[in-house]
Amino acid sequence: MTVSFDPRKIADTLYSGQFCPMFIDGKWVAAQSGEVLEVSDPASGRKIATVPRGAGADVDAAVSAARRAFAGAWSKYTPYDRQEVLLRIADLFEKNWERLCVSDTLDMGLPIARTLGNKRRVIGMLRFYAGQATALHGDYIENSVSQSMITFTTREPVGVVGAIIPWNAPTAASVWKIAPALATGCTVVLKPSEDAPLTPLLIAQLMQEAGLPDGVVNVVTGTGAEAGARLAEHPDVNKIVFTGSTATGQAIARAGVGNLKRITLELGGKSPMIICKDADIAKAIPIAAMAVYAHSGQICIAGSRLFVAREIHDEFLHGLAQFAQSLKLGHGLDPDTELGPLINARQTGKVEGYIASGRAEGAELITGGARALGAGLEGGNFLQPAVFGNVTDAMTIAREEIFGPVISAMPFDTLDEVVTRANATPYGLAAGIFTRDLGTAHKMAKRIKAGSVWVNMYHAIDPAVPFGGLKMSGYGKEGGVEHLQAYLDTKAVWIQTE
Ligand code: NAI
Ligand code: MG
Repeated sequence: MTVSFDPRKIADTLYSGQFCPMFIDGKWVAAQSGEVLEVSDPASGRKIATVPRGAGADVDAAVSAARRAFAGAWSKYTPYDRQEVLLRIADLFEKNWERLCVSDTLDMGLPIARTLGNKRRVIGMLRFYAGQATALHGDYIENSVSQSMITFTTREPVGVVGAIIPWNAPTAASVWKIAPALATGCTVVLKPSEDAPLTPLLIAQLMQEAGLPDGVVNVVTGTGAEAGARLAEHPDVNKIVFTGSTATGQAIARAGVGNLKRITLELGGKSPMIICKDADIAKAIPIAAMAVYAHSGQICIAGSRLFVAREIHDEFLHGLAQFAQSLKLGHGLDPDTELGPLINARQTGKVEGYIASGRAEGAELITGGARALGAGLEGGNFLQPAVFGNVTDAMTIAREEIFGPVISAMPFDTLDEVVTRANATPYGLAAGIFTRDLGTAHKMAKRIKAGSVWVNMYHAIDPAVPFGGLKMSGYGKEGGVEHLQAYLDTKAVWIQTE
């Protein structure tokens, strides 16, 4: 995506070290404790803002506001009214798209050329859910007990939804959680990641500008242990939608038992990328690389276990390493940056630990893996994109989610073998397959245990297509027909007519 404006000019108008309050009941507020969290630019380490360190009492206030709105002003909105609000929000996103992208870049480091490129997808998502608002319906059921009985179902919003998101895609994650809630008539308390809380606050401003009644959408900034945990256990929250690590997803599932919350979990992965011997190699290399390096590896669907047919293995890895070396690291606000930083020093250290473990366990580091320190990278959490060869299935780097720019490559000999190996993981989020053979594509897609299988492509997301994991990658779908159902309860009505 070409950048036709100066991102740094917008950056200066957005964040200059100021305090950015959170949004509860239509008001911009500090934490009740008065405490704050610092937010820094991961590409430079520079402090860019502070946000409230919201905790239990703030979450309670937000949930009360969401409950009042759910029972009050928002319940008066017809589906058409909700559709109009969503369309107004979409228009405001359109108008403010450059600011949203610059904010995401500052918040979590993603290159501006990449964030700008999500425009159609993110705004299209808002309009998709606007359309869904007027398409909700129950069923008429032919009663099999008696001809004098009429039976039908109604679909009703579940109520107050707690949305907890990670740092890696603040705009898209916020929209994917909030838009279906608004379409169905639910209200929301969003808890952004403490590592990237700024864009969700900007999004709350746009929601307010769109005329959403007070309390329909609330954004509480704070840590996972304080604000997140309270939201997950809150007795008056009906549903939690969560994206993040598997360990936190398990904690949220446990916390939800108290009032039997409805829970959707989009968790981690260790997705296989399978390059068959008949693959179009030139096409597959950049896609397999960016399947991991996009978001500097901090992406749940990262295709981080790369299985390459032995016949083409060396050629493929050579091309992959060259591609990795060609990627331009830099500050996300520079229009030609292809790879940004990792979110913070802790995550960078964690990824470096995995790189050390790969070496210690006998894998060959073909390229990358070191800190990138050159001009313009000072103070940032930059790692050179890495490719490991000679990896075995048992190595830590082949089993655990690294969440960094690290590809673990392994040869395979037969399709049966690679399917078995690809499925030998506790995760099941996504998979990639490159082949020119339609039969191979269908057979493999059927046998791979993953929520999404991309053939001769990767990464595509569409609100009309269900997305979500199997096994330890979570449960519930975002997108597709199942998505809105998860924000609705079904009621059966029986009427005796005689
Ligand atoms: P996390 O899963 O702990 O955090 C995600 C969100 O959950 C944040 O908003 C956080 O504040 C919140 N949270 C944390 N603990 C919570 C709790 N007990 N109850 C309710 N909410 C809670 O991920 P984190 O700490 O940011 O990163 C740790 C590791 O998790 C990463 O190194 C990465 O490996 C993995 N991860 C995977 C993601 C994925 O999409 N697959 C996304 C984020 C992290
Ligand atoms: Mg955490």
